[in-house]
Amino acid sequence: MPDAALPTIALLATGGTIAGAQTGEPSGAYRAGSLPVEALLSAVPGLQRLARLQPEQVASVGSQNIGLDTWATLVERVQALCADPSIDGIVITHGTDTLEETAYLLSLVLPWSKPVVLVGAMRPATALGADGPANLYNAVALAAHPQAFGRGPLVLMNDEIHEAALVQKMAANGVDAFASPNGGRAGTVHAGTPRFVRPAGAALPARFALPPRGDDGSRDWPVVDIVHAHAGMDGAVVDFMAARARGIVLAGVGDGNASDAVLDALERAALRGVAVVRSTRTGSGWVGRNVEVDDDARHFIAAGPLSPQKARVLLMLALAAGVTQAEAQALFEQA
Ligand code: SIN
Repeated sequence: MPDAALPTIALLATGGTIAGAQTGEPSGAYRAGSLPVEALLSAVPGLQRLARLQPEQVASVGSQNIGLDTWATLVERVQALCADPSIDGIVITHGTDTLEETAYLLSLVLPWSKPVVLVGAMRPATALGADGPANLYNAVALAAHPQAFGRGPLVLMNDEIHEAALVQKMAANGVDAFASPNGGRAGTVHAGTPRFVRPAGAALPARFALPPRGDDGSRDWPVVDIVHAHAGMDGAVVDFMAARARGIVLAGVGDGNASDAVLDALERAALRGVAVVRSTRTGSGWVGRNVEVDDDARHFIAAGPLSPQKARVLLMLALAAGVTQAEAQALFEQA
């Protein structure tokens, strides 16, 4: 019988490896998003001593298939739960592959008040040593903790707490795949006890709205593509992207650089009104304006600390909100 004095935590399930089931032995093959939220809960003893849980299945997919419509559905649901006084915190189970993109999106469109915790697993639920149950236990404990207020969406993986703007999946395998290379983790959770390394900030309003709805009723997300730079690259892929995209993010070499041919193609795109953001493919660091590349002359935006995939999220929301290039540059510097 749930204790009425416990916090109420909404648990939104979207699929991922945390809900994955193996498809054969002894290979590592499995299918993400196979198990319903009730099965995830039944694998975690002691959850009912942490919180009263309200489970909901929002999607059942591998996170590579979380598209713009699912994002909009998830955001609207979390916005409603943030506004619901009977809910104390929200946990979202999510595939790890794009978890940082969803976390960052939520950090831009939600108020920073009630705790929102995203959690996944690197091993499927049916694997030996599955990490999902312990991650889920710690995520619920974190979402129910008073010190989780005012920090924006948090990510819980492998006993570590990460902030949405900083967190990154750094490895394809292993339970320690997540880190925050540009700022360090926000804290730890051991056996359900969160400890933070930084104080929480004040509650903040949401910075962006979702894109407006188009004629067909779905959200009108601007198309933003990512182009991955490599040695000796020509500009053909950029020219192709520029024909359809409102924004292009360069996952550049080093501090957001690319071959002359790619920079020239990006400049052509910028002159046609495509927003061009330079970020780095290296995985960490800061891409500043006018260092190796003349952003002023070429009409580019420097991504600051954001990875290519997070730069894409911010650029989509900024374009939908109609910001100017100068305003967009300021947004990236504050990211
Ligand atoms: C996914 O992102 O859905 C699959 C991989 C994972 O969750 O670890």
